[in-house]
Amino acid sequence: MTMTPKELVGKTAAKRIHDGMLIGLGTGSTAKWFTHYVAERVRDENLMVRCVCTSDATEQQARAAGLNVIPLGAGMTLDICVDGADEFNSDLILIKGGGGAHVREKIVARAARQVVIVTDSSKRVATLGAFPLPVAVLPFAAESTAELLHQCFEVPVTQRTSPDGMPFVSDDNLAILDLHFGVIQRPALLDQRIRQLPGVVDTGLFVGIAHEVLVAHPDGRVESVRPPQ
Ligand code: 5RP
Repeated sequence: MTMTPKELVGKTAAKRIHDGMLIGLGTGSTAKWFTHYVAERVRDENLMVRCVCTSDATEQQARAAGLNVIPLGAGMTLDICVDGADEFNSDLILIKGGGGAHVREKIVARAARQVVIVTDSSKRVATLGAFPLPVAVLPFAAESTAELLHQCFEVPVTQRTSPDGMPFVSDDNLAILDLHFGVIQRPALLDQRIRQLPGVVDTGLFVGIAHEVLVAHPDGRVESVRPPQ
């Protein structure tokens, strides 16, 4: 049976793991395959690795698969962090947070020496912004922060909800606002401007964080994309 692009790219990234590594495990339906195949290699090859997880869901999966999960300690440097993305451009700037985990995901990625993003070809864009930009905010001020963001950037802002219609709450008890830009011309500047507003915890823009994006194509090829020199 042929693998889906998400499984294929997750399996490809898991080949980067070596004995003794400290690994950041991302969140989402692509990163899930990376975790799956890391666990398989750990079992089959008797590897000793330690893992820091970017969400409660990933932690549950990793522990159930027998991986050694540890908390992110002070001054810790991870050998590699592998995570998914909702969009990426040719500068390897990402939009993340489709699963609402981007605050932890950015912290873990920043602690890693090597950040590898696993995607399929649908995530590659010429210009970021078709995917609504997730912004994590304090629930206490979700409505007023949404209003402030709308006034500052003049784009529709929606508060993310769960399937039951209630406001979505992240693993860190944050609310998520989705900003519908359509087109983001200057992502680094936009990220700075949003992060300086009161009530904002972090955006889903990952600027200068990814070292490599692995892209699975429908024909079974996995392409490695690196930032321009
Ligand atoms: C979660 C994320 C995910 O990595 C992103 O949404 C991609 O997910 P998927 O691999 O399921 O398409 O940022 O916060």
